[in-house]
Amino acid sequence: MSLILSISSLLLASTLVSADATTYDVNSICTCDQMMRYYQTSIAGLWGTTYWGSAILMASLADISSLDPSYNNTYFSAYATTYSDAPATVGSGFIDGYYDDEGWWANAWLTVYDLTQDPDYLNMAISLYNDIAGGYNTPCGGLYWSKDDTYIASISNELYITLAASLANRVSSDQAQGYLDAATAGWDWFFNIGVVGEDWLVVDGVNVSTCLPVGIQYSYNQGVILSAAVELYQATGNETYLEYAGNIANATTAINSTLTGANGVIVDCHNGPCDTTGAMFKGSFFRGLRQLQLAYPHDNWVNYIETNAQSLWNNALNDTDGQCNTGADFSGPMSAVNEVTQGAALDCLVAAWAVTST
Ligand SMILES: *[C@@H]1O[C@H](CO)[C@@H](O)[C@H](O)[C@H]1NC(C)=O
Ligand SMILES: *[C@@H]1O[C@H](CO)[C@@H](O)[C@H](O)[C@H]1NC(C)=O
Ligand SMILES: *[C@@H]1O[C@H](CO)[C@@H](O)[C@H](O)[C@H]1NC(C)=O
Ligand SMILES: *[C@@H]1O[C@H](CO)[C@@H](O)[C@H](O)[C@H]1NC(C)=O
Ligand SMILES: *[C@@H]1O[C@H](CO)[C@@H](O)[C@H](O)[C@H]1NC(C)=O
Ligand SMILES: *[C@@H]1O[C@H](CO)[C@@H](O)[C@H](O)[C@H]1NC(C)=O
Repeated sequence: MSLILSISSLLLASTLVSADATTYDVNSICTCDQMMRYYQTSIAGLWGTTYWGSAILMASLADISSLDPSYNNTYFSAYATTYSDAPATVGSGFIDGYYDDEGWWANAWLTVYDLTQDPDYLNMAISLYNDIAGGYNTPCGGLYWSKDDTYIASISNELYITLAASLANRVSSDQAQGYLDAATAGWDWFFNIGVVGEDWLVVDGVNVSTCLPVGIQYSYNQGVILSAAVELYQATGNETYLEYAGNIANATTAINSTLTGANGVIVDCHNGPCDTTGAMFKGSFFRGLRQLQLAYPHDNWVNYIETNAQSLWNNALNDTDGQCNTGADFSGPMSAVNEVTQGAALDCLVAAWAVTST
């Protein structure tokens, strides 16, 4: 090989590092670095101006950090900073008027606990659970969305079931049964009240006056319940939880379904543009699908995750100046970017990394 050829192939290799859609580890780290550029830019302890969504971004940081021990140190101080500084904005003890906000934070602190084994984070999740459990008293069963008791959101209930099952798997054995009983009762209610359709797609919630399911399907409601199923399976050994979750995953990932386009890429917000809240939803789906795949492997889910990770890299990336800015629509085109679009892409890329590296 001539000197000139080897130099030019080296140059080619270095310019292609972030352009190769299949280097999920490199792409995840570059996307996370960009997400972290929003940390504490507007509000102490949070990402950008995102309140409850910062819980999801914190869990995404902990997920990539648990995959890569050398990256773990890069932003490790963020968890302690968020723990001490974010309550000034979010609410003391991460408690506010919404049971879903509290559920996001509680589950995120458990993810940080898994990474750090610091009992402060486990105790924060327990204190949030105690507050959330106070809203589990609607006339239709289940948990309210908010403390004004006007609506029953699927997402609040999914987060509650996940939290209760996760606590059962992490507290001492003499304390586990109460959490497990709450999780199984919550699961049974969820699958009996009608929010999970015969098509295995989950609608937004339950009308508190009629106790009938209402609303449309969003990807986060297809995702958090997968996390709940994995934790319940780990707590009980009952494979029925995985089979239910598998049906939900298949319905979500099917070509030309409500949530997936002809190209095999996720569509959210029913083909309309997602606002900054909606742009985050699909991250939770990829997070749940990663956890389900690791517990209950299916080639079609690996293919789906890889298709999405490659599509967002090929169609929704702006890597000007080596910074990996990722847009909201994984099919492209690249448009506005913010902490939320970074976080959703990170969840997809970390899923691709995790399910292809075992
Ligand atoms: C992450 O880093 C912290 C601080 O160095 C350490 O305590 C923890 O065990 C690490 N976790 C993993 C999974 O590497
Ligand atoms: C719930 O049902 C009542 C009675 O049909 C209706 O008036 C109300 O608008 C519904 N609320 C929602 C959020 O669907
Ligand atoms: C497993 O879970 C399903 C769904 O909740 C339940 O119907 C079934 O009775 C459970 N099986 C056992 C052996 O506990
Ligand atoms: C999901 O789809 C795969 C691939 O078609 C199939 O093998 C599996 O039986 C389906 N259902 C579940 C619950 O995994
Ligand atoms: C999905 O829909 C497109 C356009 O309607 C169609 O061309 C394609 O064959 C469909 N794919 C599958 C797998 O059904
Ligand atoms: C890509 O990023 C560069 C540098 O931040 C910016 O100037 C440009 O407008 C971005 N393009 C798109 C399509 O977002």
